[in-house]
Amino acid sequence: YSTLHRSPIRYIHVKMLSLEEQAKKNAAYKAVDENFPENAKVIGVGSGSTVVYVAERLGQLPNKSDFVCIPTGFQLKQLIISNGLNLGSIEQFPDVDIAFDGADECDESLNLIKGGGACLFQEKLVAGSAKKFVVVADFRKKSAALGVQWTKGVPIEIVPNSYAKVTADLTRMGASKVILRQGGSAKAGPVITDNNNFLLDADFGKIEDPKLLHAQIKALVGVVETGLFTNMAKKAYFGETDGAVSTW
Ligand code: 5RP
Repeated sequence: YSTLHRSPIRYIHVKMLSLEEQAKKNAAYKAVDENFPENAKVIGVGSGSTVVYVAERLGQLPNKSDFVCIPTGFQLKQLIISNGLNLGSIEQFPDVDIAFDGADECDESLNLIKGGGACLFQEKLVAGSAKKFVVVADFRKKSAALGVQWTKGVPIEIVPNSYAKVTADLTRMGASKVILRQGGSAKAGPVITDNNNFLLDADFGKIEDPKLLHAQIKALVGVVETGLFTNMAKKAYFGETDGAVSTW
């Protein structure tokens, strides 16, 4: 027995979440609760700080041993394992029943900017393989139009040695700023994606036609994928500041 065990005082550890964290959790829990398909076998789980709560909720399901989860990056691979879920890959399970993922920005037509966490290719691969794709986010991600709330630019995955050419192409196309994403310190150099590629962030301001812009960027030699997700999401859940969850 330690003195703590004998102490009459009981310490209760309550994890206080910030407004944003609580909003993410509320959105993720509700999205899973309302959309998890009966008898689902393959679940895609995206990347970022909101899907942490998707993995947490999936890990609370009584039938969690009956389905396999497909991550879109290293972060979720770890979380799938730590939540006691079955881990699979998109190569093994290309038919995904449902995918949940976060977004950097979402408009009312469910066009998205994604890739703030550098996982956009895997995210698009998994979302594009899913019968249903559901977005989970907090109130800050709702936007009247893409490029308004998220001002860091459209994330674009490119083959490394094409960065100068694609940067020039994007500038000609009207991007006011194109940045080769860096790894966080002067020494780190460019961010390397899970596919060994580089990322550009191209600022096009307010994006009037996300589908057209995606098609134009995708057509450039050197571009692997863009962070513009159009005609993919079926529903979006947003945790609000008052604890409610709204949907688009
Ligand atoms: C990663 C992504 C994320 O889904 C996006 O950045 C949102 O992340 P968060 O849930 O942390 O706000 O696209 O590439």
